[in-house]
Amino acid sequence: MKRISLTQYLVEEQRLNNNIPAELRLLIEVVARACKTISHAVGKGALGEVLGSAETENIQGEVQKKLDILSNEILLEANEWGGHLAAMASEEMESIHLIPNRYPKGEYMLLFDPLDGSSNIDINVTIGTIFSVLKAPEGMGTPTEQDFLQPGSKQVAAGYAIYGPQTMLILTTGQGVNCFTLDREMGSWVLTQRHMQIPAETQEYAINASNARHWYPPVSRYINELLAGTEGPRGKNFNTRWIAAMVTDVHRILNRGGIFMYPADAREPDKAGKLRLMYEANPMAMLVEQAGGAATNGKQRILDIQPEKLHQRVAVFLGSKSEVERVTSYHESQ
Ligand code: F6P
Ligand code: MN
Repeated sequence: MKRISLTQYLVEEQRLNNNIPAELRLLIEVVARACKTISHAVGKGALGEVLGSAETENIQGEVQKKLDILSNEILLEANEWGGHLAAMASEEMESIHLIPNRYPKGEYMLLFDPLDGSSNIDINVTIGTIFSVLKAPEGMGTPTEQDFLQPGSKQVAAGYAIYGPQTMLILTTGQGVNCFTLDREMGSWVLTQRHMQIPAETQEYAINASNARHWYPPVSRYINELLAGTEGPRGKNFNTRWIAAMVTDVHRILNRGGIFMYPADAREPDKAGKLRLMYEANPMAMLVEQAGGAATNGKQRILDIQPEKLHQRVAVFLGSKSEVERVTSYHESQ
């Protein structure tokens, strides 16, 4: 097999296909390099003294793990000096992070969830880094939070790195979804899957069923129909998979189909679900759509939502198109 590295893939996309501007190529390479460093830290575990709680809380009121903070720092440091970014934003930081004055500034803005699936860190279960890239608005001065509040359809790139038995980078720049596997000995990302496509048909779904008593009727109806199996209206059996790391559930769905749901529910009626729009749902929605799937909040396409706040939450239904359309239609008929 002829090995194509991430660098070669990006250079070819830039040079031959004119799909990626040079600065965006640099940005993606820097993010990929940071993910390599995070993967290394995750892999060390207790040997690197990186496990456990940092005993601080993030803006969402969640207790931060040492690895959450470390991953955030790795991404910030790697991306500060390259000259490709105007600003960054992260799940782990209340406000946006400006590029220090001593470095040149570029035209892109990077958002990330440094380590998704934090509850899996200390039990050696797959976790990942999710990222989203936006362009700075024309004529932007000093970046503000407002400059980040662009709908997901404006993303110029999105992806995630997944730290499991293999470390992988899943990337889209709006021309399909490609998968790179980290060659740990060589330290390089190798293209291992081109044009990932979510299978249209599925018999798998992912939802945290412990919240069932709080679900709103459209979600209960949809899940009850799945649970009824061959005897119900769907006429087939469905299987549950829930890893409690969105990145890992989405990775399974990109590979073999399925639907992932984190709905809003009656527990906290003022909150639109658990997941964050700008650095969790938007990048995943772009990847899923680029792989032939769909992503909605039950009412509208996630990528069409106009964000109002950096850390805004959103209900998420994503994956195989026909299933996402079905559960979305149940919301419409409410
Ligand atoms: O980032 C939030 C997150 O950890 C997701 O990765 C995951 O899908 C979800 O929360 C798990 O939620 P719960 O703890 O309700 O199962
Ligand atoms: Mn997360």
